[in-house]
Amino acid sequence: METGAPSPVSLADYERLAEQRLDANAWAYFAGGSADEITLRWNRESFDRIAVSPRVLNGGPGGHTRLSLLGQRYEHPIFVAPVAYQKLAHADGERATAAAAEAQDACMVLSTQASVSLEDAADAGASCRWFQLYVQPVREATLSLVRRAEAAGYEVLVVTVDAPINGVRNREHRAGFSLPVGIVAENLKDIGGPAVELARGQSAVFDRFMAVAPTWDDIVWLSAETRLPIVVKGILSAEDAVRAADAGVAGIIVSNHGGRTLDTLPATIDVLPGIVSAVAGRVPVLLDGGIRRGTDVLKALALGAQAVLVGRPIIYGLAVNGAYGVAHVLRLLRDELEVAMALSGCRTLADVGPHLVIGGRRG
Ligand code: FNR
Ligand code: LAC
Repeated sequence: METGAPSPVSLADYERLAEQRLDANAWAYFAGGSADEITLRWNRESFDRIAVSPRVLNGGPGGHTRLSLLGQRYEHPIFVAPVAYQKLAHADGERATAAAAEAQDACMVLSTQASVSLEDAADAGASCRWFQLYVQPVREATLSLVRRAEAAGYEVLVVTVDAPINGVRNREHRAGFSLPVGIVAENLKDIGGPAVELARGQSAVFDRFMAVAPTWDDIVWLSAETRLPIVVKGILSAEDAVRAADAGVAGIIVSNHGGRTLDTLPATIDVLPGIVSAVAGRVPVLLDGGIRRGTDVLKALALGAQAVLVGRPIIYGLAVNGAYGVAHVLRLLRDELEVAMALSGCRTLADVGPHLVIGGRRG
């Protein structure tokens, strides 16, 4: 960072600095939600409405933030969410994020729409590699992505199910958002889709996109095609969560895509308890959307998430200071989580439970 700039000490500081650093085009893409950005706001407001109810005099040795998930050990429950086109934030793009994730022992989920190839991102680091998969309209295309991810050492497929089309992204519309020349979805470059010509009177939503959008059958098909565990991302109802578990997925991510799909979808933290209770321990449940403080991580875990993912703050760290910025954002959140655990009386994540929150919706 240039000298004289105030040093960021929180994720909110990174957000402010990133807004100054990024051009209006990139800022609209990264910061924006859909329509009136009500869900985007609710994701934050719902965390702020929940209070922490502490337990005191719980010191002692042996404290840590480690967890087991899908048969693996993780140092802490703060994961890097899949975010597309990271070269819009920094020339090193996803490579910088992967290196920072590795430095902070964080699990990174790489987007199908990354601006570097999945092989390049794998080469750049990450102590844990999960690949976010957008199921393609043609099964061979989906399979080719899956085979590449397997070959590159990715350990989990995160199948995003909540965005068969984009939401109404008015902030992008107002900014006239477009991808600059040279920034492309590298993994999709050689993947052709069916060229659907719309007849007069047809709807692009229904006849071009939804006609070939994935269904539950694709999840079942995919599970049979790969040895990798499948985690579905974008579940917001107890009914779908149970359906996903019935379909044989290994995990669920409660997500509203950071408020970028349908506006007025609920805040993720508000629907988490109902989903956790419906799933009844059959598969782990993770959450993203609005995590900005260690206390937010604590609240999500208290209400039943095994881990959380962080989207925009990672990008803000990347925009402000490349890999160092991402690493610092992750470090800040880890430190804040440790402080939150210590001051609420939790030595390990096993101590984190619903008794810690006041005001969150219960399942
Ligand atoms: C996303 N998200 C996303 N999700 C996904 O599955 N594949 C993707 O390619 C993207 N791309 C993407 C781009 C941008 C700019 C944003 C902000 C988000 C959603 C992301 O994984 C996550 O669900 C949210 O970002 C979480 O909310 P917060 O942490 O940004 O509030
Ligand atoms: C987005 C897509 C890429 O949210 O998931 O921009």
